[in-house]
Order: sequence, then structure tokens, then C-alpha cells
Amino acid sequence: MTTIGRPLKPPPPMPKDTQHPLKLLILGGTGEAMELAKGLEDDARFDPVYSVAGRTRKPRLPNLRCRTGGFGGIQGLVDWIRAEGTHIIIDATHPFAAQISANAAAAADQAGCKLLALRRPAWTPEPEDHWRSVPHMAAAAQALGDTPRRVLLTIGQLELAAFCQAPQHHYITRSVELPETRPPQCLCLTQRGPFQLEDELALLREHRIDTLVTKNSGGDATRAKLEAARQCGVQVVMVERPPVAQVAHKVPHAQAALAWLHQFTSNGAFA
Ligand SMILES: NC(=O)c1ccc[n+]([C@@H]2O[C@H](COP(=O)([O-])OP(=O)(O)OC[C@H]3O[C@@H](n4cnc5c(N)ncnc54)[C@H](OP(=O)(O)O)[C@@H]3O)[C@@H](O)[C@H]2O)c1
Repeated sequence: MTTIGRPLKPPPPMPKDTQHPLKLLILGGTGEAMELAKGLEDDARFDPVYSVAGRTRKPRLPNLRCRTGGFGGIQGLVDWIRAEGTHIIIDATHPFAAQISANAAAAADQAGCKLLALRRPAWTPEPEDHWRSVPHMAAAAQALGDTPRRVLLTIGQLELAAFCQAPQHHYITRSVELPETRPPQCLCLTQRGPFQLEDELALLREHRIDTLVTKNSGGDATRAKLEAARQCGVQVVMVERPPVAQVAHKVPHAQAALAWLHQFTSNGAFA
């Protein structure tokens, strides 16, 4: 880490009154991050900035100060935090966004600011589910086997290249924006969650899907497809989460993050 020769600047003191609101950096790009951000709109105790990576052309943004694009690694994030006088980083990124979560943990440590991680629990199979867990996307493509299948891919638009190696299958992809790279036999649907059970059942039936490939994102917004797969006897290839940075403070959902912040302002400090 390149801290050698840099003057060590102490983190800004925690403000004690609403004249000096807590400066927050929300690392977003998820439904929970939006829910959290909306819960902070018009709350004078907080001065939040909402950050997205800039992967989608029309990101959903809250009515807060927003920024777009990477910080430039850990050091860039440390510099940004120091320049802004950020008190608390809230990592509300997706469970598969492991790089920014690791950067946030390292940068909070270096800059001496608090970090709260919003970590939604992973999905787990029910007894009647047919899941096969795999560690990454290449393994998911391999797990489909040689016999042609009709596959629904709900993995976003950026990681479809792995399925170009398995062109024998017929794919339906669902993502927020049209993918640039896609396997040859592929119908691309652009839709943004949350999704309802009836719609998921209709999608599986209309396209005669026999296999669903998905990431173990957890949460409620996209859970209905798993219930639909269960009801239709569709096999699920579940790409499990990458390992994520360990943090001192974590909560499972946006409302718990808001409660944590409210407690923070009333206590003034956390252990
Ligand atoms: N991966 C998914 O399946 C998925 C699904 C839904 C939403 N998202 C959202 O999409 C974003 C990108 O995901 P990813 O998997 O590409 O992340 P990643 O691999 O963990 O991050 C790659 C780089 O993108 C920048 N970055 C990521 N999130 C950022 C944010 N909220 N604000 C500013 N910069 C950010 C950082 O660049 P620097 O190092 O330059 O700072 C980071 O090092 C995340 O914010 C995530 O919440 C991801």
C-alpha cells in the first residue's frame, strides 16, 4: 500500500449535532442501496453521497448527491474519503461486487472511517429444489452438459461470454440492458426487477425453459424465479458468491442499515 511519505491525516471527528451532519458515502447499484438512500432523503442528520460504478447507461439514482464511476482503486477511494471528510462508508453493493467491497474495507481502515456493510443472506435450496451449485460462470456453462437445453440466464449482461463455449443450448437472457456479447442461439430480454411469481411462471412456460442459471444474489427482488423453477420442475445452476471482505459492522437489509445509522446518531459512537 502506498501510504509511505503521505502525511497521516486523522479522520474527521464525529459531529454531535445536526448543524454538522454525518457525511456518508453509499456504495450503491442495488435495490437495497436505493431503499437506504431514499430513507436518508430529507434527513438533516446525514449528508450522503450515492455512488454507482457507471456500468448501466440509465442507473436508478436517488434524490441525493450522486457520483458515477470508479475511484481509482483503494488509494483513490482513500483520497476521495479524505477530501470529502466522510465519516461512514456504507457498502450496499451487490454480493458479487467483491472488488469494491474489498476496496471499501481497506480504504475505511486506512482513512480511519467507519464501514457498515449491507450483506443480504444467500438463498438456500428447499427440499423439492433441484440445484447444482458451481463456483463461477465457466463452471455454470460446463454444468449444462452436452445435451441441448433451454436455458434461462439471469446473470446480468456482462458475463454471458462463458456461454459462448456451450453453443449447443438455446438461451433466453434477462438483463437491464442488451448484452454486447451473447451465445449464438440467444433471445435477449431487457427487464429490470423486482419480478413477480406469476410473471416468472409465465416466462418459464412460454419459453419451455428446463434450466435456470442464476447467481446466488439473495434478497427478495429476484427470488420469485426460484419459486417458479420449483413449481415447474426446472433445474437450477446456482453460481455461488465470491468470498467477501470481513467487516466489523454488517446488517442484512436496508431497514437495518437505517436503524444502525439512527442509533449511531443517538449514541454518538459505536464500539
Ligand atoms: N456484479 C453483479 O452481479 C452486480 C449485480 C447488480 C448490481 N451490481 C452493481 O454494479 C456495480 C459494479 O459491479 P462489479 O461486479 O463490476 O463490481 P466490482 O467488480 O466489485 O468492482 C470493480 C470496480 O468498479 C468500481 N465500482 C464498483 N462499484 C462501484 C460503486 N458503487 N461506485 C463507484 N465505483 C464502483 C470500482 O472501481 P475503482 O477500483 O476504480 O474504484 C471497482 O474496483 C456495483 O456497484 C454493484 O453494486 C453488480
